[in-house]
Amino acid sequence: MFEGSASVIGRSIDGAFLVVTGICVLLFAIIVAFMLYFLFRYRRGRNAVPEDIEGNTPLEISFLVASIALVVFMFFVGLGGYTALREETPPDAVTVKAHAAQWHWSFEYPGGLRSDVLNVPLGRAVKVVLDSKDVIHGFYIPAFRVKQDAVPGSVKTTWFKADSAGTYDLFCTQYCGLGHSGMITKVEVMPGDKFDEWAKAGAVEKAAAAGAPGAAARGKELYESKGCIGCHSTDGAALVGPTWKGMYGSRVKVTTGGVEREVTADDEYIHRSEFDPGADIVVGFPPVMPSQKGVLTEDDVDSLIEYMKTLR
Ligand code: CUA
Repeated sequence: MFEGSASVIGRSIDGAFLVVTGICVLLFAIIVAFMLYFLFRYRRGRNAVPEDIEGNTPLEISFLVASIALVVFMFFVGLGGYTALREETPPDAVTVKAHAAQWHWSFEYPGGLRSDVLNVPLGRAVKVVLDSKDVIHGFYIPAFRVKQDAVPGSVKTTWFKADSAGTYDLFCTQYCGLGHSGMITKVEVMPGDKFDEWAKAGAVEKAAAAGAPGAAARGKELYESKGCIGCHSTDGAALVGPTWKGMYGSRVKVTTGGVEREVTADDEYIHRSEFDPGADIVVGFPPVMPSQKGVLTEDDVDSLIEYMKTLR
C-alpha cells in the first residue's frame, strides 16, 4: 500500500494511520451494506404507501454516544503518532544542521563538514536543526515519516532514528519558487562505524583544502556553501541558471534592457552578474537570480572566478 517505514518514529505513525483508515473502511462497509439492504427491503413494490415514523430516542442517543466515543478514540490514536514526532530528542543524538536556500539543501555536521546529501548513521538518533536563507522550505523524508518546515529567521528542529540502511528521498514540500521541483536530494543511511569513517575522512579533506593555497579551492567552498550550487551546475547541465562549465571567457548571449547582445564572460561581467543579476539576463534563462549583495564580498567573487576557471 505504501513504502515501508525506515525509522522508529515511522512505525508509530503508520500504526495510527492504519487504525484510523481501518475504522473508516469498516464504517463505510457497514453504511453501504445497510443502504443496499434498505433499498431492497423498502422498495416500492413492497411498500407502495410510505409510513410516518416518529423518532427513536434510545437509538438516537446511542448513535450519538458511539460516534463521539469513536472520534475521541481516533484523536488519541493520532496523538500517539504526533507526540512521537514532537517528543524530546534523545540527548545522545548526532546534530546535523540543515541549511535550506533557493534551491538546494546543504547539511553541516559537527566539525563544520558539509555535504549536499544527508548522511546519517544507522540506529542512532539524528537531530536536524533547520534554518532557511530566504523563504519557507519544507524538509521531508517520506520513508522516515518526518516533515518540518525551515522558516527564515527562526530555527526549527526535528529528529529521527533510521533503522534500515539504504538511500532515501528527501524533498522540499513548500513551493519556494521556480527551482522548487529541483530541491530534491538523498538521505544515505550507513552503519555507525562507516558514518564515523566518512565524517573523519571528510574532516581531514576539509582541513587539507583549507590549508591549500589558492582561491579556486575557496571558490569551490563558496559555490557549495552560498547556494550557487542550487542553480548552476559544473558539469554542463542547464539547471535554473546556466552551467559554469566552460563559461569563463566564453561568449554569452544576454538580454540587456530588452536588447539582445553578446558579451564575454570576463571578470567584470561576472562581478556585475553577482551584484546586479537583472542587468544582463542570459538568453534562455528566467530572471530569478537574487543579488549577492551582503552575501558575497568582491573578494568572494574573485575566488568564485578562480574556481570557474578550473571548470573547463
Ligand atoms: Cu524549497 Cu520548495
